[in-house]
Amino acid sequence: MNAVITAVGGYVPAAILDNKTICEKVETSELWIEKRTGIKERRIADENTATSDLASAAIENLFEHYDVDRNEIEALIIATATPDHILAPTASKVCEKNGLTNAFGLDINAACSGFLYALELASSMIESGRYEKIIVAGADKMSSIVDYENRDTCILFGDGAGAVLLEKTQSDYGIMKSILRTDGGGTSSLFVPAGGSKMPATMQSIVHRSHFIKQEGPYVFKKAVSSMSKVSKDVLIKNELDTEDIDWVIPHQANLRIIKTVSENLNIDINKVKVNIERYGNTTSATIPLCLWDFKDDFKKGQYLLITTFGAGFSWGALCLKWGTMRKKRHRSQVHQSRKLSYEAVLQQM
Ligand code: UT7
Repeated sequence: MNAVITAVGGYVPAAILDNKTICEKVETSELWIEKRTGIKERRIADENTATSDLASAAIENLFEHYDVDRNEIEALIIATATPDHILAPTASKVCEKNGLTNAFGLDINAACSGFLYALELASSMIESGRYEKIIVAGADKMSSIVDYENRDTCILFGDGAGAVLLEKTQSDYGIMKSILRTDGGGTSSLFVPAGGSKMPATMQSIVHRSHFIKQEGPYVFKKAVSSMSKVSKDVLIKNELDTEDIDWVIPHQANLRIIKTVSENLNIDINKVKVNIERYGNTTSATIPLCLWDFKDDFKKGQYLLITTFGAGFSWGALCLKWGTMRKKRHRSQVHQSRKLSYEAVLQQM
């Protein structure tokens, strides 16, 4: 029994925050941001949009484009680091919004590795024989935890969501073996200090801006490169594949320089590596499903994909899959709406 991806959906908010606009408020330059990160712009959700709305829109996009009966969905796993609330689960709201009345829903938080971990969980559930159809989504409203006065982080992140349908198959297409890792020693190198049980919200935590992301950028960069390179090499061995067998690499989109160095370390042609960081920035749990959504028409039946990620925790991993047959399409068009956002508008939303 295997689990195969048969439908993909995605959603990014219409509002664009570009590098030029960021330069109006923090000490940086368009050239620096693009050269050091590869990012040109990111999408920002408005103050009335929560992570559940992003996830729900991505899942609705999946239902609009593929012939899937929502009543047959048995489980929804949402990877997110920016849940609507600490309590109750974001997945509950999404089940309600998307009419998934025969499914149970749960959130998992493994930061930038959340989607990959969720894919592993969902495929194991299907391989166990107890489930046949599970939706796995990655969604984050990063703008809700980004400090737009801190140039170290405000240049990096964006909002978005992606979702896939995983289904049972007797064929050898689908999710293959993965290697997933966690090292809690990295927690304070990339985290939001306040708002959880360790440091509940106080007036002081707000004054100290402790509800925003803190990151030791260069250290995280080095760990990301070494960890993604090693785990990718190891997962190829585990799956008895060579680098030449890989048709496409889907890396977490945190920094174009990380992506390029990992592809060099793996000796994989950069043209085989899918990149959309220039348009969305780092959307944390959503980078990988957004890549699957953006580039799905390039993937052909029988092709091998290598997915790899690294993020807060530290958490990282890699997974191979053999692309299968997608469900029948309902529509062919994919509408990308956009409008430019002023920095004042972003700050007002905080
Ligand atoms: O998704 C989760 C995983 N996250 C990541 O993988 C992120 C990993 N880290 C990174 O992507 C990079 O470390 C950053 C993009 C965050 C920073 O880039 P960097 O090349 O590592 O820069 P740096 O922090 O080493 O700083 C180099 C220089 C410094 O100036 P001096 O000391 O050389 O004069 C910084 O002050 O660049 C300066 N700098 C900036 N200049 C303009 C740092 N940030 C900026 C900025 N604009 N935004």
